[in-house]
Amino acid sequence: MTTQDKLQREIDLYVSKTPTSRGLQDSAEQYLPGGSSRGTAYFAPYPHFIERGEGHYMIDADGNRMLDFMINATSLILGHAHPEIVSALQEQAARGTAFTGPTEAQVRLAKILTDRIPSADSIRFTNSGTEGTLLAVRAARAFTGRPKIAKFEGGYHGSHEYVSVSVHPPLEKLDPSGPTPIPEYPGMPQSILDDVVVLPYNDLEWCERVLREGRNEIACVIMEPVVSSFGYLPAQKAFLQGIRDLTTELGMVLIFDEVQSFRVSSGGAQEDLGVVPDLTALGKTIGGGLPVGAFGGKQELMDLFDPTAGGATLAHAGTFNANPMTMVAGEVAMNHLTPDVFERLNALGDELRAKLRAVFDELEVHAQVTGIGSLFGIHFTSEEIVDYRNVIRADGQMRRALFTGLLNEGILLQTGTAGSLNTLTTEAEVDTLVDATRRVVQRVR
Ligand SMILES: Cc1ncc(COP(=O)(O)O)c(C=O)c1O
Repeated sequence: MTTQDKLQREIDLYVSKTPTSRGLQDSAEQYLPGGSSRGTAYFAPYPHFIERGEGHYMIDADGNRMLDFMINATSLILGHAHPEIVSALQEQAARGTAFTGPTEAQVRLAKILTDRIPSADSIRFTNSGTEGTLLAVRAARAFTGRPKIAKFEGGYHGSHEYVSVSVHPPLEKLDPSGPTPIPEYPGMPQSILDDVVVLPYNDLEWCERVLREGRNEIACVIMEPVVSSFGYLPAQKAFLQGIRDLTTELGMVLIFDEVQSFRVSSGGAQEDLGVVPDLTALGKTIGGGLPVGAFGGKQELMDLFDPTAGGATLAHAGTFNANPMTMVAGEVAMNHLTPDVFERLNALGDELRAKLRAVFDELEVHAQVTGIGSLFGIHFTSEEIVDYRNVIRADGQMRRALFTGLLNEGILLQTGTAGSLNTLTTEAEVDTLVDATRRVVQRVR
């Protein structure tokens, strides 16, 4: 039996367990393109529809109970329907869900975050991480008066135009000699591509050359200190420090996208890795499970948004920005995440990564396990993962077979076979994932 046949067997098993989802997908496709509103919600042959979440578990429309390591793309760090978040939301909903005027809850959450995040003198809330990175980029342009931005090949920062360059470029479009700006969609204006400089991750020499060449035109470098789409790969420390030093020297704004990596410590990856950017974009965990985004940073940059002294340089409105539902949920989540909790969670993450590596060694399967803190990623390749190109050269069929096989074992990962732990995870759930991975790899290899 080929790997393709074994994958098909896993898909057939999934289909046999999810007839209600199949029907729901058929009706969804009548009203929504492909049946959904979100790229990450879809996987072939069709996604299971969710009925409810309970702590570490998600129950689908056919009653399948899934141990959830997807956890809404890392955002639900206290698990589903945490009782304290539910009651904070019930209380707030009864008092009103959104007002144009500010609430005290916004100030409380802003204080928690600015106290924790080394780079954040102050902060503004948005409704998504996309808006957080968009406004950070805009602030960098306004502050420096320069038009271009630099981003990394394979880096995802949301769906706005300038960061939608070279996000998922296919292998055949890559210039073997190094990164070039590749449009993410047909018809992307050349003017956008002309203003985006694309860099290779973890290659300081290349970055230095390109940034020096663009020193009068590049406003900012936007990057994740832990790259989500590379299976939560932390930057090599010397590389990250090198980018910090270069951007300082060249007068460029360094933006860390910590929409996902903020969950690695109280102060995010910047605290953990010891490199402080000028601006930070946030999202996911800081909203306690509600829609959220934010950006914060040095006061001189954040002052661009200050309306108090005769008007802000940068206008920033948003009907649901800092709505009190998100603020109270975020406050509960942040208050739960004490240093002790991070220590426990991150130790479990270390244990999971070590146990997964041991399984692949035992089964003599070429695989790399990446990650940091409570984040992990699995790649079927013998290449060490240092940048985008190693990631896309990995075996996509094995990845899909593991993802689907784990679904059949009652375990949900991200489709890229990455995932995250939450505060309800114990050694038992780690072992459940490790044992199921062993069984699935034995079945599909
Ligand atoms: C690193 C990173 N930046 C930005 C975003 C965009 O956040 P949102 O989906 O809230 O717009 C995401 C979302 O997955 C992300 O992972």
